[in-house]
Amino acid sequence: MFDVRCWVFDVCFSIFSLSDSVMSEPAISIRNCSVTFPGQRPGESIDVLQDVSANVATGEFVCLVGPSGCGKSTLLNVVGGFLEATSGEVLVEGQPVRGPDPRRIFVFQENGVFPWLNVQENIAFGLRRRAAAERTQIVAHYTTMVGLTGFEAAYPRELSGGMRQRVEIARALAANPDIIYMDEPFGALDFITRLKMRADLVRIWQSEKKTILFVTHDIEEAVQLADRVLIMSQRPATIQEVVEIDLPRPRDLDSPGYLEKRDQIFRVMGMSLRVGETSGV
Ligand SMILES: Nc1ncnc2c1ncn2[C@@H]1O[C@H](COP(=O)(O)OP(=O)(O)OP(=O)(O)O)[C@@H](O)[C@H]1O
Ligand SMILES: [Mg+2]
Repeated sequence: MFDVRCWVFDVCFSIFSLSDSVMSEPAISIRNCSVTFPGQRPGESIDVLQDVSANVATGEFVCLVGPSGCGKSTLLNVVGGFLEATSGEVLVEGQPVRGPDPRRIFVFQENGVFPWLNVQENIAFGLRRRAAAERTQIVAHYTTMVGLTGFEAAYPRELSGGMRQRVEIARALAANPDIIYMDEPFGALDFITRLKMRADLVRIWQSEKKTILFVTHDIEEAVQLADRVLIMSQRPATIQEVVEIDLPRPRDLDSPGYLEKRDQIFRVMGMSLRVGETSGV
């Protein structure tokens, strides 16, 4: 009897351990990735990433910051399957990345929308295989979510930069990806629009529960958005430090906690907060 109970306990324990390990498997696992590009002249090479390792948990919002040219877009391209690492590997949901995957969507800085399609056609772009009624319902849902109701028939040339960017985010969400990769998606927008877009993105992320890996060189943006900020060094880039942003949302941009996190990242990046002082970047 005792043996049987031990056996049952063992089996249950194994099942719980297994489910625990499956549940805790990171959505994205970057393992010792290095990237070297050919240089301008024959025989030259340029080391961009050096032994970069990092994890992103399922449902986590992670920002990647670092100085211009350090390799943020390169890393995102490796994770997204657009570029093969020179060495190392990336696992997404436990599987090695071999190329782009429709379950994971990229949102770029600008010009992501198709100029010849109107707003609802752009948002419906990834939904061609769905039944017409379902497609209409999904498009309506995301049009409302990003605040573009009334502009369904408008073409990108008739929209502001912020509205175009919202179309792109709606299109990415409508495709129902597990993971969204964003490369400076708000970089071309003015200050006020950027603030609004960040608030919108956090609200959408909270309701849709997606995993987001977001590249920015804007430290304030990273602190406003992320659960964790990965700080990349100068090239050849490594992950210099990881800063957890354990601040409640919506975030108070004047709170001591917010300013402390922001200043911590500035310090790690060797940047001065006073305009006119010699900056390390
Ligand atoms: N296909 C390529 N061939 C050669 N060099 C490249 C290639 N892509 C990027 N690089 C080089 O790799 C380095 C990192 O570029 P990357 O675009 O990843 O930087 P970044 O951190 O995204 O910069 P930014 O903040 O300015 O967008 C740069 O020096 C760039 O010139
Ligand atoms: Mg870039």
